[in-house]
Parts: sequence; structure tokens; C-alpha cells
Amino acid sequence: MSDNAKKYSDVNYWNKRYESEDHFEWLGVGHEPLLDEMEHILSSFPRDTPVLILGCGNSRLSVDLLHRGFTDILSTDYSRICIQNQRAQFAHEPGLKWDVMDMTRIPLPDQSFSIVIEKATIDGFLAHEPSPWRVGVEAKELLDASLREISRILKPHGRFLSVTFRQPHFRLPLMARMDLKWNVSFHEVLSPNSFHFYIYQMTKDQPLDLSGLEHFLRLGDASQNDNDYQRVASSDSEDEDFVMSISSNILT
Ligand SMILES: C[S@@+](CC[C@H](N)C(=O)[O-])C[C@H]1O[C@@H](n2cnc3c(N)ncnc32)[C@H](O)[C@@H]1O
Repeated sequence: MSDNAKKYSDVNYWNKRYESEDHFEWLGVGHEPLLDEMEHILSSFPRDTPVLILGCGNSRLSVDLLHRGFTDILSTDYSRICIQNQRAQFAHEPGLKWDVMDMTRIPLPDQSFSIVIEKATIDGFLAHEPSPWRVGVEAKELLDASLREISRILKPHGRFLSVTFRQPHFRLPLMARMDLKWNVSFHEVLSPNSFHFYIYQMTKDQPLDLSGLEHFLRLGDASQNDNDYQRVASSDSEDEDFVMSISSNILT
């Protein structure tokens, strides 16, 4: 495991980073196609439905959603410095609220939000995995705790949107779980200035329906693919550490 990539799971790394960084867009700049797709996915919800963003960082996603008409957005991150900065920067926007929150232990009641969004936060948990086909013990604990918490706080038929560059054969097997009591689907978002995004959509209290997704789940079979991957991958390269570092190098 690369020490360089482990930093993405360390709150001290993020606090230090946010001491001097005002804005960084993981997954690249140019939100418009992403926002268009989110608006489409969320079109059945009234615009005053409260939205919870997990691991907001200093991304513009919160203010962009506000400008698209969502009026009640709680953006959270476990970095205190991040939240202090964001709160100060957007003090003039009453529709934006900010709170320090660890998404593995969300201090909110059951069934408290209908819309929960994360962008590249789960990617940070998985960044130090030696292969995208396998999730190690530490990362699995963070992921499991977060997904359980998100499922717990979602209202019936609420949506959890997870935004990443990671393709369905890597990400669907992690999300498609009976115990989380949600259905999964995904949308591919083509962006002229970026890699393709994927928005994974989890809908609470809908039966898990994997018809049409079997192909991706089969491709995601770690036992078949891990050995091949190990042969071609350099596990210490920064690009493999965190697919998002590609965006930082090329797109911003
Ligand atoms: C890769 S950045 C993504 C930031 C932003 N969402 C974006 O798309 O630009 C990951 C963010 O997640 C935050 N984070 C990491 N682990 C977290 C956790 N357990 N709970 C809440 N936030 C976390 C980090 O502080 C950082 O701001």
C-alpha cells in the first residue's frame, strides 16, 4: 500500500490542505453536465427538500445546487478547517448550512433526509487500495460504516447519489447490498472537459433489482480480475493511488 495514498483517509491531511486551499474540484471542473443529470434524477422532489452533502470539501457543488434552485442544503465534512472556511465564504447564502460531520458516524436521527449526496468522498476511502478489484479491511470498515449510516438516515424512498469516475463493474458490487435496503442504478454523465462521471443512485426501501446489472457484477468478480490487474498495474503510482489525482493533474 502506498503511504502517499493513505493520506486521503487522514483528517490531518485534509485540515492541513484546507488551511491554504480555497477551491479544488475533485473530478475536475465544469459541473454543468453533472448538475443537469442531478436535476433530472431529483426532479420528483420539491426544490425545498433538504439536501445533505457528505465530504463537501471546498467544491462548488453546494452553491451550484443552490443556484439550480435547491433552497435547503446542509454541507458537511469531517475537516473543521474546511467547514470554518466554507461557512465564512458563503455567509451571504442563507440556503447553505455547514457542519462538521464524520460520515462513518452521522449524528442525525433515523430517516431524517430524503436526498443525500457524496462526490469523491468514498473514492478517498478506496484510494489506497492496491487494486480496484479488492477492498481492504480498513477501507471496507469505512465504507460499510458510511453506507449503513446513509441507509439509516434516508427517509423512505429517499435517494443517495454517489458521484465518481469509477466504472460500474468496480462500484456496483459495493453498493448493491440487500442489507442496506435500497435499490441501485447508475447514470453515466458525458462531459466534454472531463472523464465520464458516474452517478450511482440508491433508492431507499425499493427492492434490490439487479436485472440488467448482472454483466457489471460478473465483471466485478475480484477473484477473476485481481491477478490480471496485478500484472499490469504499478501499485505505487500516484494515478493508481487515487483515480481523482488524474483529474487534479489534467483537468484543474
Ligand atoms: C476527495 S475530497 C472530495 C471533496 C469534494 N466532495 C469534491 O468533490 O471536490 C474528500 C473529502 O471528504 C472528506 N472526508 C474524508 N473522510 C471523511 C469522513 N469520514 N467524513 C466526512 N468527510 C470526510 C475530506 O475532508 C475531503 O474534504
